[in-house]
Amino acid sequence: MHRDPTQLYADLLKGCLTRALFEDNDHIVGWNAPLTTRHRIARVVSKALWTQRLQLVRRRPYESDARAGGRDWPERAETMIGLRRLDNLERCIRTVVDERVPGDLLEAGVWRGGAVIFMRAMLEVLGDEDRIVWAADSFKGLPKPDESKYPVDRGDRHHQREELAVDLHTVKRNLRRYGLLDERVRFLPGWFSDTLESAPIERLAIARLDCDMYSSTIEALDALYPRVSDGGFVIVDDYFAVAGCQEAVLDYRRRNAIEDQICDIDGMGVYWRKVIRSVRNTGRGSAQSRVNR
Ligand SMILES: C[S@@+](CC[C@H](N)C(=O)[O-])C[C@H]1O[C@@H](n2cnc3c(N)ncnc32)[C@H](O)[C@@H]1O
Repeated sequence: MHRDPTQLYADLLKGCLTRALFEDNDHIVGWNAPLTTRHRIARVVSKALWTQRLQLVRRRPYESDARAGGRDWPERAETMIGLRRLDNLERCIRTVVDERVPGDLLEAGVWRGGAVIFMRAMLEVLGDEDRIVWAADSFKGLPKPDESKYPVDRGDRHHQREELAVDLHTVKRNLRRYGLLDERVRFLPGWFSDTLESAPIERLAIARLDCDMYSSTIEALDALYPRVSDGGFVIVDDYFAVAGCQEAVLDYRRRNAIEDQICDIDGMGVYWRKVIRSVRNTGRGSAQSRVNR
């Protein structure tokens, strides 16, 4: 049986980037942010061990459903978004390349860079020679909630999660390990409020938002949505996972009278396609239905 090498590579990458291929579900003791006393003790012990180049690891059974749905938090993987959201990203990339939807690809909230690695790889294997992959992140975790400006974020504790702070050097190293660090991956380091509006991006075919908070999501939409091409995709990773993220999306869509259908990916993430204007006006089948097949 002949297997399409492009698909084989895409599937192999997804398996590696999520560690699904290795069925790796180890818990590295002391890795999580020290939110409780137990965590704090574990952190001290693990730091002491680390000086001897030792690591304390709890072996946990691998749960394929959780990894497919991006519901666990793999400790060694380059992405936490799971296989189904990577499948969705693959379908979106194939669609914009096949249909020549103009614009670059961007992820706002890259963590260890797994989805960015996947975007760059897909452009390469699909023979796209022009598009840039933009990676926007503070590279130091999430901002403290600005409660006066964004009351929805009151009490948000994402900024305390040290494990969400991955520096630029590490992300570049991850890209290089996969052989995909080149001039077509560009970085926008800093808070979205400082970087996105002025970013030298003309048009986007895919804007993938994965930034958890109301503030980060609305700032990304404000700065990027006007640059998304007709026929392009907006993907929101945390829509069903974080109430503030969903509220930001709904607020933005209401304010801008966006009616393009929101599609569930895996019970966590969603996407919508910016409907091509000529299709919108004719009242014929929507562009959305084409990608849902
Ligand atoms: C859940 S992680 C992203 C996961 C990643 N997309 C993946 O493939 O695993 C969220 C990321 O968003 C970034 N982030 C959130 N809000 C931000 C903001 N306002 N400005 C810059 N970076 C932000 C954090 O630094 C973190 O790397």
